[in-house]
Amino acid sequence: MKDFQHPLFDEVIYFKKVGSTSSKAESLIKSNSAQGNFLCLADEQTSGRGRGKNSWISPKGGLWLTQALYGFSFKSNITIFTGICLHKIFVELFPSISQNLKIKWPNDIYLNDKKICGILSSHLSNRKYHLIGIGINTNIEQFDDELKTSATSLQIELKKPIDNNKLLLSFLDNFASELPGFVEEELDIKYFNKHSLLKGLQIELDTDYKIFKGKAKGLDKNGALLIELKPGMIQPFYAGSVISWTE
Ligand code: BTN
Repeated sequence: MKDFQHPLFDEVIYFKKVGSTSSKAESLIKSNSAQGNFLCLADEQTSGRGRGKNSWISPKGGLWLTQALYGFSFKSNITIFTGICLHKIFVELFPSISQNLKIKWPNDIYLNDKKICGILSSHLSNRKYHLIGIGINTNIEQFDDELKTSATSLQIELKKPIDNNKLLLSFLDNFASELPGFVEEELDIKYFNKHSLLKGLQIELDTDYKIFKGKAKGLDKNGALLIELKPGMIQPFYAGSVISWTE
């Protein structure tokens, strides 16, 4: 992925090995060492970051990147927009998995009930940057015992190696072409709800101060998760982690 380029970015900054492309992008911005839209891309991350305090295992073979977008103002949730773009590209490139490929609010993609992709977004408002970190388990042959019940890779599920270059190019083409529409018109909620992992299930949402239980009813137009806490009482949630889901 060394010489990867894309017209969305003024610069692509490639690392054979880095702690985290998200931390690196943030430090480049804070030290005024990067300008405009740029992409940090790594073959391997040694301290990949997930949501909250989670780490993200990022060995060679996977696709680990952070998009740094300058000066954009988004009306709704960029993480959800990114998840929709990724889901569309997975379906386009790998149609055989489309039935079992689901988007889990707010930031993951699941294949056959295991995680294959995570998104970590942040907003450096005083620097006018949005950072969108994306981890895709592409060519990972096996996971250790702790992860293998909850994570999988495209290579394991499709039983063939994945072309990281082609996947990234297709995703960025789609993301760049749909971005102006997202800036103007918000989210394709219909698409999300159609491919949602959680819709219709009983879930538990941990908001850090309380665990809410109820039935997931889908997303509202801003990307909030709607949960029916009691019959007829539906509440939107803008943040939190869904820690369990059952029929
Ligand atoms: C999640 O917890 O589901 C989000 C995981 C996001 C991982 C990606 S890999 C590239 C970028 N750099 C990081 O350190 N994290 C994100």
